[in-house]
Amino acid sequence: MKITIIGGGAWGTTLGQVCIDNGHEVLIYDVNMEHVSKINMHMHPFFETQLPSSIKATHDLNHAIAFSNIILLSIPTKVMRPVLHEINLLINSPTIFINVSKGLEVETFKRMSEIVSDEIDAQFLEGFVALTGPSHAEEVILRKLTLLVAASTHIKHAKLIQTIFSNESYLRVYTSTDLIGAEVGGAVKNAIAVVSGACTGLGLGENARAALISRGILEIMRVVEFMGGKKETAFGLTGIGDLIVTASSENSRNFQAGKKIGLGIPIDQIYQEQKQTIEGIRTIEALESLSIKNNLELPLIHVAYEIIKGHLLVTEAVPKLLSRDLKSEDF
Ligand SMILES: NC(=O)c1ccc[n+]([C@@H]2O[C@H](COP(=O)([O-])OP(=O)(O)OC[C@H]3O[C@@H](n4cnc5c(N)ncnc54)[C@H](O)[C@@H]3O)[C@@H](O)[C@H]2O)c1
Repeated sequence: MKITIIGGGAWGTTLGQVCIDNGHEVLIYDVNMEHVSKINMHMHPFFETQLPSSIKATHDLNHAIAFSNIILLSIPTKVMRPVLHEINLLINSPTIFINVSKGLEVETFKRMSEIVSDEIDAQFLEGFVALTGPSHAEEVILRKLTLLVAASTHIKHAKLIQTIFSNESYLRVYTSTDLIGAEVGGAVKNAIAVVSGACTGLGLGENARAALISRGILEIMRVVEFMGGKKETAFGLTGIGDLIVTASSENSRNFQAGKKIGLGIPIDQIYQEQKQTIEGIRTIEALESLSIKNNLELPLIHVAYEIIKGHLLVTEAVPKLLSRDLKSEDF
């Protein structure tokens, strides 16, 4: 099959290699000419890895859209709407959209599938699948064992993407029909990963991290349920699985950003130093607004938001959380 990938960064390019390993044809589109050139020279834009020789990239969106009827989106969520708007002006046949970007639109709290539905004319939107789960690009590019979930409201679309991306050597994809649960899990875990990094930056230990992952999954469950997903999905690959890999790994950019916050580095400096996408900080902003508007209890997100906005010193975060009313853990 032919697959167009929008976004030739760490993850998009890596998924391009997966598609080629699985016998598909790939064309990657990116606005960044340096990334396009590197990919065309079979070099990964971020990793010291030789890419398969059949991988191709372009700077021409028209060419990319005409290439296939399966479009995989792997761009920062903050540019998702304008990029889809451009795609909609060029598209002229029914297409399946796969999204791997993890976040919510800050202003509207919309999930990426909702933004795709807003921007792409219904006649050209054949289906939508979220491909998500615990997956560091750094490992997948080395073909290390990884499990993902293809989630769609239409099982036949989820099964198609499952077949395209699964192989018998390093990648196994499960299907799910809980699209909301999968999308929300992937977005909220990035926010909790920032908090986890901050714990490390503050010098807290493994006990604190385990507590944070456990209490963090509760916040993911609350958001999933509020948004209309199944709370049980939070206990699978797209929730706790993705949270564990992101909240406990130095490979994670969200964890790294949180660590710097914990060390007291100002947020503007963190953004300047990090060339790649950090979704978790924007997601914290979206979740704080969502929780205030809807009276959702998200204490970890709230404290992280206060620190990011400069309303709370990072050293005040733990006392603030510990001074909350004592309560039972009963679910
Ligand atoms: N890196 C990972 O391991 C990983 C794993 C799973 C999911 N994700 C998610 O995938 C998404 C992308 O992550 P990434 O790590 O590849 O980020 P990245 O910053 O490495 O790459 C993003 C790419 O998008 C391109 N881009 C930016 N604006 C664009 C535009 N307007 N049009 C076309 N291309 C544009 C950039 O040039 C860059 O190449 C994020 O939402 C992230 O949460 C990443």
